[in-house]
Amino acid sequence: MTSVEVRKASAAGFRGELVVVCHFEGSRKLEGAALELDRASGGILRDLLDRGDFSGKHGQVSVVYTRGALPAHRVLLLGLGKKKECDLEKLRRAFSKAARAVRDLGVAEFAVRLDPFGEAKRPEDPTEAVVEGVLLGLYRFTRYKTSRKEGDKDIRKVCLLAAGDREARRMKAAAGAAEVVSRAVCYARDLVSTPSNEMTPRDMARRAREVVVSKKVRLTVLGNREMEKLGMRALLSVARGSKEPARFIILEYSGGRRGEKPYVIVGKGITFDSGGISLKPPDKMEEMKSDMSGGAAVLAVIRAAAELGLPLNLVGLVPATENLPGGRAYKPGDVLKSMSGRTIEVISTDAEGRLILADALTYAGRFKPKAVIDMATLTGACIIALGDDVIGMMGTDGPLKDSLRKAADETGEKLWELPIWDDYAELLKSDVADMKNTGGRAGGAITAACFLRKFVGDTPWVHLDIAGPAWLSKDKPYIPRGASAVGVRLLLRFLRDQAGKKWGK
Ligand code: BES
Ligand code: MN
Ligand code: ZN
Repeated sequence: MTSVEVRKASAAGFRGELVVVCHFEGSRKLEGAALELDRASGGILRDLLDRGDFSGKHGQVSVVYTRGALPAHRVLLLGLGKKKECDLEKLRRAFSKAARAVRDLGVAEFAVRLDPFGEAKRPEDPTEAVVEGVLLGLYRFTRYKTSRKEGDKDIRKVCLLAAGDREARRMKAAAGAAEVVSRAVCYARDLVSTPSNEMTPRDMARRAREVVVSKKVRLTVLGNREMEKLGMRALLSVARGSKEPARFIILEYSGGRRGEKPYVIVGKGITFDSGGISLKPPDKMEEMKSDMSGGAAVLAVIRAAAELGLPLNLVGLVPATENLPGGRAYKPGDVLKSMSGRTIEVISTDAEGRLILADALTYAGRFKPKAVIDMATLTGACIIALGDDVIGMMGTDGPLKDSLRKAADETGEKLWELPIWDDYAELLKSDVADMKNTGGRAGGAITAACFLRKFVGDTPWVHLDIAGPAWLSKDKPYIPRGASAVGVRLLLRFLRDQAGKKWGK
């Protein structure tokens, strides 16, 4: 992966293959680092503007060869769009474009000089946005490609240029934190992209060891016997259709004071969802390897939280199993006893996510959490309601929801709330058991949340349905198609806000 470095140098003094500087749309004159380069080189950028070849439109990229007029061989002028409209999301998007353009040139290293940014709340935010845009935009999942094409070359290093010592120190801290976060995102993307034959529940539990990055992280993995003892029959029933045994992954990070209540994050870990006996249609079924996206996000978040040293206590829970229609599979009509003691009538074996989450949410109660947040690719209905790009948020606690909304605003992950009014819970009434596992097609994302709510108790709780944005069928600016790792940056932003602490220690 590309490494990030901060160096005290001016754009005009940078010696290397390529340096990126920016220009806003609508401005007739070059500014900041672009102006500095233009002056030092005797006007190599000015022409682009004067001849009308470069408008500064957001994401516009022009490469100019310096032919000895500057110590750098090339300058890449990057359009940021209108100055007034330029926010962190625009920076991420523009810089992912720039980084990919550099990669297409076959250049292995480049420098960036970002002019001070007036609008940002924290001075380190723009640096973070640039690093995220670059690292996330360059992501590729190449593990199973046995031949590499020309132009597939990776960028080895990106160098952020700082004007002075003070700026360099700040930039270093921000870049370091953004690197941790971006690596966590790529880690989650890797886990999700790995096909289910190599990402079984056991594989996931094995990979969870990679989260144990310090003495402050503890990993416990429950197997069949332990889950049986705890009475996790909802989770174990889903696992019955597969020869692969289920696992329950518990990660505890103690960055806060002893005895301080933890945040508990829970992620759905269905490593493949065939639907079980209520078999899914074959179209796009291969994408159901991504049904552990919530679980992967949990692993990634705990890992980054530990690497950043966030001063809080955090627990990650991942119920992991396949959902297959084997000979001993659970069936529609079966009645299951969950760990909470409540009974569930199975209407569809394809509504398996809420079953495994039910037991995980019950287990979460043991930690007396400050708050519980679950992430799950839970319902197709959420995609119908909100579209492909949007996280559906449902929960019981106003302030918690507000904090997540604010975090999503800052990370550019789209999130919208759906209601969980009590009326919906009526739809889950069963004739034979305490509840059914589905409530019909109408309001399907909401009835799923109503189901989960029954297992939460009084703890502040939010459910994030990530069925839409977890897997992209088309490239987005800094999210190549496939696994997006949605939720990772969101939760890290949220946790940092909760810790009341700035990035980068
Ligand atoms: N994993 C699916 C939800 C899903 C669908 C995620 C499409 C991503 C893309 C989940 O287990 C499921 O099958 N849900 C059912 C619930 C229904 C049977 C009540 C669904 O949404 O159809
Ligand atoms: Mn399903
Ligand atoms: Zn599923």
